[in-house]
Amino acid sequence: MSIFRNMILWGADNQWLRKHGANFFFVRKAVKRFMPGEQIEDAILAAQSIQANGLKIIFTHLGENLQGLSEAEVVAKHYIEVLKKIEKTNLQAEISLKLTQIGLDLSVEKTYGYFKAITEEALARKNFVWIDMESSAYTDVTLKFYHRARKEFENVGLCIQSYLYRTEDDLVELLKLTPAIRLVKGAYNEPKEKAYPDKKDVDENFYKLSEMLLESSKENGARAAFATHDLDLLARIQKAAEKYEIPQESLEIQMLYGIVTKEQIRLANAGYHVRSLISYGEFWYPWYMRRLAERPANVLFVMKNMFTR
Ligand code: FDA
Repeated sequence: MSIFRNMILWGADNQWLRKHGANFFFVRKAVKRFMPGEQIEDAILAAQSIQANGLKIIFTHLGENLQGLSEAEVVAKHYIEVLKKIEKTNLQAEISLKLTQIGLDLSVEKTYGYFKAITEEALARKNFVWIDMESSAYTDVTLKFYHRARKEFENVGLCIQSYLYRTEDDLVELLKLTPAIRLVKGAYNEPKEKAYPDKKDVDENFYKLSEMLLESSKENGARAAFATHDLDLLARIQKAAEKYEIPQESLEIQMLYGIVTKEQIRLANAGYHVRSLISYGEFWYPWYMRRLAERPANVLFVMKNMFTR
């Protein structure tokens, strides 16, 4: 793991920077590349435009660190409204949320209650709810939460991270549920006791887990979504999918809005199931820092914005 990446991820969690970083004009300007705006209406406009290019969508509202459960209730109500808006605007969009956003640090039972309300609304509208995976402090509780939710609901999916050593064992257990899994590399600053420090090991583990997912997909219809912009890795997964005779339209690729956009459209036009995750919300600073950590060139982009108004 590079020192550079660690420094930026430290910045994502630094309280002073969290409070002030988002106010710098050049940061606000640069974030537009990855986030169409702070309101759901901004996200819907962007979604309509990329859907016209053949992409499907996932919406996520950015928010972390709640002060009280009343805030969790507001977030839950917001997602319920988003589900209504998706139906009204005929978007092929799903939603993805962080459990801490709906109260996980405060009460697991209340969080389950909010999640249930959102998922029931999604079910009534034939929609789907993804659960993001947060830092490793939350892995156990999130997995337990998903096992419970999956037993109650068909329309729920979970994100897992290939940088954690434990994920292969976790996936073995998850596959027993015929789950929906979004596989990612992982975006948090994790110690080497928990996560592969070398990127090449993270990538190799991603491929290994992909094969497990493809096999389960073929055998019992588990939903597998490969969430990466790593085109070499995707090419290997596409080849493996052919080996498992998984048709192109069933191979789901998820990427972030604003990153390798041309490639997203190319893959969709080639017949793959491609979803672009659009983030919006006022609390975007730590999320944006994680995007910077993923690619040094993004920092140069922010710096360039310091000198152009
Ligand atoms: P990698 O970092 O190796 O990048 C491969 C290539 O993609 C780069 O060389 C570059 O060309 C391009 N690229 C990648 N990131 C870029 C960026 N920010 N800007 C510009 N180019 C970039 N993580 C997590 O811990 N929990 C979660 O719930 C989720 N959820 C999630 C959903 C979806 C739909 C996606 C796509 C990703 C996530 N992630 C996540 C983030 C994930 O863990 C990871 O940090 C990013 O996807 C970047 O890793 P890549 O797999 O793209 O590979």
